[in-house]
Amino acid sequence: MVRVLFVCLGNICRSPTAEGMFRALVACEGLAEKIAIDSAGTGAWHVGDAPDRRMQAAAGRRGVDLSTLRARQATAGDFDHFDYVLAMDAQNHRDLKNICPRGQEDRLHLFLDFAPETRRSDVPDPYYGGPQGFEEVLDLVEAASRGLLVHIRETRF
Ligand code: 4NP
Repeated sequence: MVRVLFVCLGNICRSPTAEGMFRALVACEGLAEKIAIDSAGTGAWHVGDAPDRRMQAAAGRRGVDLSTLRARQATAGDFDHFDYVLAMDAQNHRDLKNICPRGQEDRLHLFLDFAPETRRSDVPDPYYGGPQGFEEVLDLVEAASRGLLVHIRETRF
């Protein structure tokens, strides 16, 4: 089993989108029994909340259902459990590095490192912006999800 954790700030926009989209891709490829997927936030403000309604609506238009997901906060223990801890932006990466147990830093990556063709390093936080921000999250997350699955197939199976 390969275990993957997506992490953003609130766990109500970007990382649940990555969880839902990667889960759909993995199921479509028949790998649901081999890859475990979760998401979390570095912050605790939204713990227990469902994903942001704007994000749910935008994901739903692309066939990805986020309605059953609930926010939780990332912990140091996540580095014991997950093979991949994937940060949505550089600030999330810094915050995760600060709680990462010594010797487990190799599990931490920027998610967009798996989508070099986007020439981007951060999935921008859409929370305070307009509708286009949610579409951009979906575009970047879809590209990196495909790249991550190629990487896992090549290196783990
Ligand atoms: P996320 O977006 O990190 O993609 O879930 C955010 C959601 C909420 C807040 C910030 C970012 N907030 O400050 O409440």
